[in-house]
Amino acid sequence: DKKELGLTPPMGWNSWNTFTWDINEQLIREAADTLVAEGYKDAGYDYIVIDDCWSLKERDGEGKLVVDPLKFPNGMKALAEYIHFKGLKFGMYSCVGTHTCAGYPGSFEHEFQDAESLAEWGVDFLKYDYCFKPRHMSGELLYKRMSLALKNCGRDILFSACNWGEDNVYHWIRESGAHMYRSTGDIQDSWDSIKSLALSQLDKACYTGAYCHNDLDMLVVGMYGGSNSDFIGSQVGGCSDVEYKTHFSLWSMMGSPLMIGSDVRKANQATRNILMNRDLIAINQDVEGRGAYRIKPEPQWFHGDDVFMLVKVLTGGDLAIGFFNLSDGQREMSLQFWDFGLPYASGKSLSLYDCWEHQEIGVFRERYAPVVPAHDCLIVRAKLV
Ligand code: DGJ
Repeated sequence: DKKELGLTPPMGWNSWNTFTWDINEQLIREAADTLVAEGYKDAGYDYIVIDDCWSLKERDGEGKLVVDPLKFPNGMKALAEYIHFKGLKFGMYSCVGTHTCAGYPGSFEHEFQDAESLAEWGVDFLKYDYCFKPRHMSGELLYKRMSLALKNCGRDILFSACNWGEDNVYHWIRESGAHMYRSTGDIQDSWDSIKSLALSQLDKACYTGAYCHNDLDMLVVGMYGGSNSDFIGSQVGGCSDVEYKTHFSLWSMMGSPLMIGSDVRKANQATRNILMNRDLIAINQDVEGRGAYRIKPEPQWFHGDDVFMLVKVLTGGDLAIGFFNLSDGQREMSLQFWDFGLPYASGKSLSLYDCWEHQEIGVFRERYAPVVPAHDCLIVRAKLV
């Protein structure tokens, strides 16, 4: 069942959010083991990605990147083989600049050489960061160059661009060949961070889609403030399970890649239920890859910008509808079917299914108005009947 590279939002696990610089072979193997043993792989999570901090600070005599032998004593090829043996795919990280954000060698003017190393090791995914870009170079050009290098290295390597929305990224990213791209800054394990990332991308539905997905950054679901980086986790203290549920719903509905950033080895049941919600994953992985548009609420129902409804048109004609209440109080949210061209007189009804309760809600005509608690959401799948 080989899917075309980047057709749907990539799913997997990334080391950065929880472990930052503190990574090693054993950890990566255990993360791979967990994805398989706990059912994540079956749910669709198939990339294991090592982020920044895996190499030595200097290239070798031929200019090649050198894997840190203390962190990865058996080298990347052996690690890739292990990951492939588990039925998973292997992701690594580099940067457009002279250095990575953490100060390791970047791929600037080594693009083709580094793409060759990745292919040699058996890498399937490259996250490409944006630090230390030489001032005279354009970011657009450097992403296009690495994309070309990857496409010509002899291996299928998914290209994950990470330039935080600089240089008008929306205007050239799809043409560059990137399969996913970050257009926002780094996520933190806090409700404020989740909320502001989502709100910043609400009106950007036209900039995501099949083969080139707008990446809202790694998931913080299940971190509960646990990170060795103050910036990402331990200072901001984490979120409640309801907030993680809403975070996962937003990322799923908005078509973001789903890269787990928590320590999967220690996930509790609540975290696993959120990350492996098959109904949400099916919405996220819909092959047409339509962005989710916002329905303008009737003026009398308007509760502010942080209370909104999103609609994603699915292959075959179903609709995924998200009622998001990011405000601090409970809200009734009224969806008028008129917004889909279905007034009462049309005789058409919508049969609604709750994607968190995993059960039918009922058949409704003309309108549906659920009450949604603070920071919570309701995701329904609607069928025309
Ligand atoms: C900045 C990126 O946005 C993060 O996701 C992470 O890759 C770090 N750089 C690594 O230094």
